[in-house]
Amino acid sequence: MTTEITTPKPLQGERLSEAALRPNRMAEFVGQERVKESLSIYVEAALKRKEPLDHTLFYGPPGLGKTTLALLIANELGVDIKTTSGPALEKPGDLVSSLTNLKEGDVLFIDEIHRLRPVIEEFLYPAMEDYRIEIRLGEGPRAQTITMRLERFTLIGATTRFGLLTPPMRARFGVVERLGYYPTSDLEQIVIRSAGILGVPIDEVGAEEIARRSRGTPRIANRLLRRVRDYAEVKGDGRITRSLAEAALQMLNVDEYGLEQMDARMLRLIIEDFNGGPVGLSSLAVALGEEPDTLEEVYEPYLIQNGLLQRTARGRMATPKAYRRFGYELPPGSGGEQGQLFADG
Ligand SMILES: Nc1ncnc2c1ncn2[C@@H]1O[C@H](COP(=O)(O)OP(=O)(O)OP(=O)(O)O)[C@@H](O)[C@H]1O
Ligand SMILES: [Mg+2]
Repeated sequence: MTTEITTPKPLQGERLSEAALRPNRMAEFVGQERVKESLSIYVEAALKRKEPLDHTLFYGPPGLGKTTLALLIANELGVDIKTTSGPALEKPGDLVSSLTNLKEGDVLFIDEIHRLRPVIEEFLYPAMEDYRIEIRLGEGPRAQTITMRLERFTLIGATTRFGLLTPPMRARFGVVERLGYYPTSDLEQIVIRSAGILGVPIDEVGAEEIARRSRGTPRIANRLLRRVRDYAEVKGDGRITRSLAEAALQMLNVDEYGLEQMDARMLRLIIEDFNGGPVGLSSLAVALGEEPDTLEEVYEPYLIQNGLLQRTARGRMATPKAYRRFGYELPPGSGGEQGQLFADG
């Protein structure tokens, strides 16, 4: 009953980067239907009016397709894209040549836009609003400011931390789209598509097995697929079936919820060492040897969405579901089996 999805032409060369698996047309981008539909309309309207697309912001957890969408939109618009990132820009001068080289309708993509320095933000406001930049020449009272006109361009920003974007920056985006975690069915399609590109034979249940453990994240789905492929080539005949995927993922320590070591360590730590919480983010970070930002951006959103972790005013707490998940007994006086929390918050 399993459908064999075979693959036409295996690509050569082992090191197929993330880029090779990136969809570059809207039609190849799996899932996020609402986002795709809005974007398609805005892109088509911009093309019809022969005007640049409004400045666009994508936000959401890592690996869900923000960069992919930026590249793909430029492709759909038929324009060039220049890429930079918040932390890479130290002074306004770093942006001048990128901005002045943009042609009408081109895209400037700024990744991690929440990490722009204030001087860069200030410098960008008139660029975004009026397509002009102001450059100061010299220092002190004798300094002169010259204004340069830019072609009408589109700024696309991406961030994992919408909350850290300054309100004036946020206000300058005409289009703001949030990407959420993908359901297993979408991830299954992504795995099948990627397997096709990599030239790996896989069946639907094998793909589903990988999809289920990918934490709702296409980047993880692709990463697990590559690892399972290695396993299939060494331990099997190269085909990815359910049992092979199971064995490979077990070896990789990816459990059936898609919890990898860090997620699991974090929950166990809260339960075992902090009595289920609440525990502050910084204490958790120290205990885990991770950056607080990474815990907050990468690990927490998935755990929270899946009801395993709760953020309260007093800190992080493991939920009854997390206790059950790891086979711990619920602490006395907890809310019991209904999935509600024991303490307030
Ligand atoms: N909807 C999708 N369909 C197919 N593949 C996808 C999709 N979204 C993401 N991918 C794949 O996942 C990989 C990661 O996506 P991408 O780099 O766009 O994530 P991101 O949101 O920019 O992450 P980060 O916040 O870490 O920059 C891409 O290489 C792409 O192959
Ligand atoms: Mg990105």
